[in-house]
Amino acid sequence: MVKIPRGTQDILPGTVEKWQYIEEKAKELCQRFQYQEIRTPIFEHAELFLRGVGDTTDIVQKEMYVFKDRGERDLALRPEGTAAVVRAFVEHKMFGYANQPVKLFYTGPMFRYERPQAGRYRQFVQFGVEALGSEDPAIDAEVIGLAMNLYETLGLKKVKLVINSLGDSESRSAHREALVAHFQPRIGEFCADCQNRLEKNPLRILDCKKDRHHELMNTAPSIIDYLNSESTLYFGKVQQYLQRMNIPFTVDATLVRGLDYYNHTAFEIMSEAEGFGAITTLCGGGRYNGLVEMIDGPSTPGIGFALSIERLISALEAENIELPIKQKVDCYVVSLGDSAREYSVKLLHQLRQAGFAADKDYLNRKAKAQFKTADRINARFVAILGEDELQNGKVKVKNMENGEQVELELAQFIQQFSELSQ
Ligand code: HAM
Repeated sequence: MVKIPRGTQDILPGTVEKWQYIEEKAKELCQRFQYQEIRTPIFEHAELFLRGVGDTTDIVQKEMYVFKDRGERDLALRPEGTAAVVRAFVEHKMFGYANQPVKLFYTGPMFRYERPQAGRYRQFVQFGVEALGSEDPAIDAEVIGLAMNLYETLGLKKVKLVINSLGDSESRSAHREALVAHFQPRIGEFCADCQNRLEKNPLRILDCKKDRHHELMNTAPSIIDYLNSESTLYFGKVQQYLQRMNIPFTVDATLVRGLDYYNHTAFEIMSEAEGFGAITTLCGGGRYNGLVEMIDGPSTPGIGFALSIERLISALEAENIELPIKQKVDCYVVSLGDSAREYSVKLLHQLRQAGFAADKDYLNRKAKAQFKTADRINARFVAILGEDELQNGKVKVKNMENGEQVELELAQFIQQFSELSQ
C-alpha cells in the first residue's frame, strides 16, 4: 500500500473543523486589524529564498525542497512566506499603493525537510502577517499584539512572549566582529557548518543545533551589549507600547531566530503548557528592514510573524481546550416506504435550495436506523415522510431538542419549516 510521505498528515473530517475554526478566527482578526489577504504560489525560484532567507541558514542549506522543472529552472517549495510576500510586494509595486503601510496576511502550506517529530512536520500550514512600509515601533507592537490576540481568542492561557532586539546594521556589524573574535581561536572545535558560518554569518553559530552545548556558546557576546543608541531607543519604544497594551513579555538576549533577514525587533511566542513536548515555539517573527532591497525593491521597512496551525492545535490540546465547534444540520429527512423515499429527494432539494443544511438516507435503511443517523449528526429537526402522510399531502416534523412534533403541509413545506425553525 502506498502510504503518506513522512512528516505530512491527512486532516480528516472531525479534525478539519478545528482548522476551519482557527483559520476563520485568524481571518476575522486580520479584518479587525486591517490586514488583507495575499496568496502567493507554493513554489518559487530557489534563488528567492537563497537571497531572502539566507544561504547560511539551515532552512536553505538543509531543509529546502529544491527541484528542476522540465525547463531546467531551479525551483523550491516555499519553506516560509515572508520572502514570497516581499517578492510579490516588489513585483506588483505595492510600495506605490496610496495606503501605506501595506498590511498583508496569508495562510498556506510550507515545506521543510526536517526530522519529523511532535510539532515538526515536513509540510505544515503557516498563518502569517507582514506589514511593509512603516518603521514606527507601534507597528511592531501591533503585529505582536495580533499574534497574542489570536491565542487569547482561542482560549490559550499558557503562552509566553519573548522579545529581543538584533539592532540595526551598525549594531549588528559591531556584534558580528565581537562574535568572530570570540569564536575564531577555537573554531576548530565546532562543526563544519559553524566553521563555514564564522566568516559568512557568525550569528548563525548561536543557532547551531549540533554545537549548542559548547562552552563558548554561553559566554558569547550578547547583541544587547552592542546595540547603538538608536537601536536601544527603538527597542525601548517597542517595549513601552507592549506595556501600554498590557501584553506581558520577557526579554531574552539569546533569541536570534533561524532566518537571516531580521534586525531590530525579534520575537517568539512559546507554549508553557505541561506536556506540550520539546518544541515549544508556537510563533516567530520580527523586523526585516532591508529585505525588500535584497529582493530588488526600493528601501522599505517591514515586520511580520508566522505561526503554524499544527503547533497551535497541539497547544490547545495540551491545555485541554475544546473549540466551540458545532456541526449544523437543520433537518434530516426520514422516509418510510418506496414512494415516500422517492419524494424525499424533492423535499431534501427544496430544503437545500432554501438555504438549510439537510440530508437523507441513501442506504435504504429502516426507520430506526434513519433516526439513529439523525441523532448522531445532531439534526435539529427530523422530517418524517410516510406513505399515509404523502397521500394526505402532509409531512411530520419533529423538533429533536424538545421532542415536539407538528404536521406541515407538503405544498407549503418550506415556508412552514422556515417559521418553525426560526
Ligand atoms: P519560523 O520561525 O521559521 O519563521 O517559522 C514560524 C513558525 O512556523 C514557527 O514558530 C512554527 O510555529 C512554525 N513552524 C516552523 N517550522 C515548522 C515545522 N517543521 N512544523 C510545524 N510548524 C513549523 C518564519 O517562517 C518567518 N517567515 C516568520 C516571519 C514572518 N518573520 C517575519 N515575518
